[in-house]
Amino acid sequence: MVTWNTNKRIVRILLVGDPGVGKTSLILSLVSEDFLEDVPPKAEEITIPADVTPEQVPTNIVDYNASEQNDDSLHEEINKAHVVCIVYSVEDESSMDRISEYWLPLIRDSVNESEQRKPVVLVGNKIDLIDYSTIDNVLGIMEDFPEVESCVECSAKTLHNISEMFYYAQKAVLHPAAPLYSMEDQDLTEKCKKALVRIFKICDIDGDGLLNDFELNHFQRRCFNAPLQPQVLEEVKAVLSKNVPDGVVNDAVTLKGFLFLHCLFIQRGRNETTWAVLRRFGYNETLEMSKEYLQPAIKIPPGSSTELSHRGQQFLTMLFERNDRDLDGALSPDELKSLFSACPALPWPSLSDLRRIVPTNEKGWLTLHGWICRWTLQTLVDLPRTLEYLAYLGFNVHENESQLTAIQVTRERRLDLAKKQSNRTVYMCHVIGPKSAGKTALCRALIAEDMKRLLERDFRSGSHYCINSVQIYGQEKHLVMRDIEVRQVLDPLQPQDVHCDVACLVYDTNNPKSFEYIARIYIKYFAESKIPVLITGTKGDLAEVRQEYLLQPAEFCQKYKILPPQIFSLKHNKKDLYVKLATMAAFPRFQAAWILFYRHRLEHLWDSTNLRHFGLMSSDPQLWWKAGIGLAAATCFGYFIVKLFQRSTPS
Ligand code: GTP
Ligand code: MG
Repeated sequence: MVTWNTNKRIVRILLVGDPGVGKTSLILSLVSEDFLEDVPPKAEEITIPADVTPEQVPTNIVDYNASEQNDDSLHEEINKAHVVCIVYSVEDESSMDRISEYWLPLIRDSVNESEQRKPVVLVGNKIDLIDYSTIDNVLGIMEDFPEVESCVECSAKTLHNISEMFYYAQKAVLHPAAPLYSMEDQDLTEKCKKALVRIFKICDIDGDGLLNDFELNHFQRRCFNAPLQPQVLEEVKAVLSKNVPDGVVNDAVTLKGFLFLHCLFIQRGRNETTWAVLRRFGYNETLEMSKEYLQPAIKIPPGSSTELSHRGQQFLTMLFERNDRDLDGALSPDELKSLFSACPALPWPSLSDLRRIVPTNEKGWLTLHGWICRWTLQTLVDLPRTLEYLAYLGFNVHENESQLTAIQVTRERRLDLAKKQSNRTVYMCHVIGPKSAGKTALCRALIAEDMKRLLERDFRSGSHYCINSVQIYGQEKHLVMRDIEVRQVLDPLQPQDVHCDVACLVYDTNNPKSFEYIARIYIKYFAESKIPVLITGTKGDLAEVRQEYLLQPAEFCQKYKILPPQIFSLKHNKKDLYVKLATMAAFPRFQAAWILFYRHRLEHLWDSTNLRHFGLMSSDPQLWWKAGIGLAAATCFGYFIVKLFQRSTPS
């Protein structure tokens, strides 16, 4: 079935024309299926129910009579109508001249300039009175006035072409030719071509610039819910081979052939076919993709987040595989550009930034893993863009439904807390700390294969996000590290800087003034919140210095009953920090339980290794390391407890 513009729930047809041309007779002949000799000057407005009209749309038909109506009322009626039929009498030349001299300019003047031109159908009545055709005369008018959609000759007396006339009028509203085709150029309009080129690219599954039988069939099924008969397919190709040089290459349809085919449909009055294709790919009556199509309404309760659904991931994986032409497992800049060629622009303006955001191969190109990471990040932080690009990339056509099925809205955070577990797969970690504490390095290390290569890097440019997957209990989750930029030490944090699944407060173990900042941040923003916090000392490979603050980091953590400080170093880190952060995000409520448990273990550890005072006086990184390893062991044990607890708690 043809999908049509749902904005127009009713089609309003107005008949105008000189006195005596037969307007009232046409309307009454249609309704009564009989010619009445004696008709009133003006017919009552009638409504034809949807089920008896060819396009299944309720239709109003409105008459006009010059002696009963003034100019104002005529203007008003023209504005209210969706299409105007200008009726002339084929045996009365002056009524024909008046089409372009009077009626068409009048209709143009009645409509606001900002609005689209009102579509017009020219109707030559009383064809029973002559034995020749006037169509050639009106074709010239069609060229001068592109709003004239079609012309038809008919007779109210013999009922010849009466229902056709009303069908053309309906069609002029529902499937107008004007936006698609320029009579003057005898070619598709630029906008229409642009839309069809995009459609061609989406349908060109293997990206070879041709639509082969499989792709044409796929296209046909998506647009019309029916396969293409092999015989029809051959006929189409035969027509193309005959009419367009290079219309068919290697037994497949070229872009040139595809455009020609649509030209042909429209020239033969089959606009509805082209419109059906365009609408299926999201275009509205002005050949634009509407806002509702690009960004359908979606309700996201406060405290919920957005992730890619399985369907969304499948579609993106398919796109990746389709576009990795050289099968090297990564998208080169050219492959990436070609993948997005059906979109108005690249979703990520700087391709060179990608390597700073997601895992890439050694050339900085997106691997499938990095590609999914990039979309996962975007879906979390910029859902409208994900929805928009899924639409451009043809998700809706491919999956036969709205792009909302590519999205998973997670349960509200407070419910996660109440149930003591979360079904999320993507967690946001905010990395907060004073200037030069090593925040960006800590974020980037999440995606770096070889951490040592990050050591001498300049981190100033680029995105504030890094994303990679981490394993929690053998399950793959995504962790996003967001670098929260600190401008001035005394600047307050904004709610959007604080709100996250887990916070990593970072200080520089090598700088005595570093810890105070995050201690204050913790007390001010996190001490009372339910957000799990991990305090992390960076540059663990350098000499650790005593912090100029009331409490040393370990004491501070003990006082506030949070996990002891973790020590991180680009040189030695084994990435367990990220697993820890993700686990804390996944099981936020268990933090207190962990601490109680650790307390016992740690006290033992501290006693036995004489580390009780390491936060106060130790400057030996070795000691930090031992503590770190001990903590890692304790953490593992902590997870184990969590696991047991989880099992015994019905979800
Ligand atoms: P106004 O309301 O005055 O603007 O005229 P109108 O356009 O409504 O014309 P109307 O339907 O009143 O018809 C005018 C005359 O033309 C009547 O005598 C009709 O019988 C006659 N007429 C209308 N249609 C046809 C037709 O198809 N063939 C022939 N032979 N006569 C027709
Ligand atoms: Mg009349």
